[in-house]
Amino acid sequence: MISLAVNETIARAVEVLRENDHGDYTIPTKGLYPFQWNWDSCLTALGLAHYDEARAWTEIETLFAHQWPDGMVPHIVFHVLNDSYFPGPEVWRTNRPTATSGITQPAVAGFAVRRLFDRAKDKNLAAERARALLPKIDAWHRWFYENRDPRDEGLVAIIHPWESGRDNSIDWDDAFERVPTEGVEPYTRRDTLHADPAHRPTKAQYDRYLWLLQHFRALGWDNAKLHDASPFRIVDPGFNAILIRSAADLADLAKTLGEMGIADANRSRAQKGLSAMERLWSDTYGQYLCLDRATGTLVDSASVGGILPVFSAIPKPRIAAIAATIERIAGKARYIVPSHDLDDPRFDAKRYWRGPVWLVVNYMIADGLAAAGFADVARHISQSSLDLIADSGFAEYYDPLSGEPLGGGRFTWTAAMVIEFLKGER
Ligand code: DGY
Repeated sequence: MISLAVNETIARAVEVLRENDHGDYTIPTKGLYPFQWNWDSCLTALGLAHYDEARAWTEIETLFAHQWPDGMVPHIVFHVLNDSYFPGPEVWRTNRPTATSGITQPAVAGFAVRRLFDRAKDKNLAAERARALLPKIDAWHRWFYENRDPRDEGLVAIIHPWESGRDNSIDWDDAFERVPTEGVEPYTRRDTLHADPAHRPTKAQYDRYLWLLQHFRALGWDNAKLHDASPFRIVDPGFNAILIRSAADLADLAKTLGEMGIADANRSRAQKGLSAMERLWSDTYGQYLCLDRATGTLVDSASVGGILPVFSAIPKPRIAAIAATIERIAGKARYIVPSHDLDDPRFDAKRYWRGPVWLVVNYMIADGLAAAGFADVARHISQSSLDLIADSGFAEYYDPLSGEPLGGGRFTWTAAMVIEFLKGER
């Protein structure tokens, strides 16, 4: 039985999705992010499906229509001209039929497509749409392991912080010391016109984002070269967990649809990734840590990237330890799950990925915890997420101490996650 207040919240969330809907793709928010973003779209599709299943499939299909010939799915598709965002296509210069960026983002598509399929009311439509997407998602997964795990270690590296989605996490600070800034072309940021500069990454970070972009561009966006050529190569447990979960989900879906080759390949990717993930565990922090592949050392930084692995089938004792870590953090934050541990002096409650709470991250963590039987902590996270919406609206992210809405407003994936928290079965 859905109450009136719940129905009203869902209606407000649907309004946000409709406002940002451009027909066959959805922008994250007006002004700040006026194009299609990869993982935003895949998670948004789950929200769309609650009122228009066909439109939800289209969201993911549009993204995959811009997959590169090598299998990569870019992190931004620049469907239209819009100079409210920097860096635009004239900076990336990837030479694609429709302009795209030249890096990727967390591989959440496999998970999203399986969830759309499992929940579909129209099973024939779902089978047809899923069958067409399967080989494309499989090609993206293959691309990851071939290009971002060239020494066959079982885990992939990101080569740019924007790939992680957690752009300015404290996790990248040490590695960023190695990224030079000489030769960065003069630029004018646009993000700070749309959001408070105190909530966004710093200029020092932007210089390095752009140095990496220019470096990869000078190498012709040739993915066979980029991993080894990048001074920034980080194995992020959260990023890998999303890929592992998607590989496992794609394997299940492929099996249901009788595509045994795709099922076997993805099952073995997931298994290999799960065993390799053990290397990233920290007893000290009760969570996983990033590995700096350039130095071979674990990064001393307890971020939500090391909590996200509960989204994949990690061992039960690891999930229990992470659940306890979340409850410890909950003792200090009014809203959970903050993107960084509050005990770390580098924690910053307002600055993008250095402390704030994100509903998409909460959704994936709660999903994994609920599936593993940690229903109470999962409920605590969904309640915290819904409290944020009630107190502060559909923001991009939130201060975990005060609940203040931060970054962009009327944010698509936040709205999609609210619908999921209120309506989705896990
Ligand atoms: C940005 O421009 O802030 C985006 O997060 C990059 O994907």
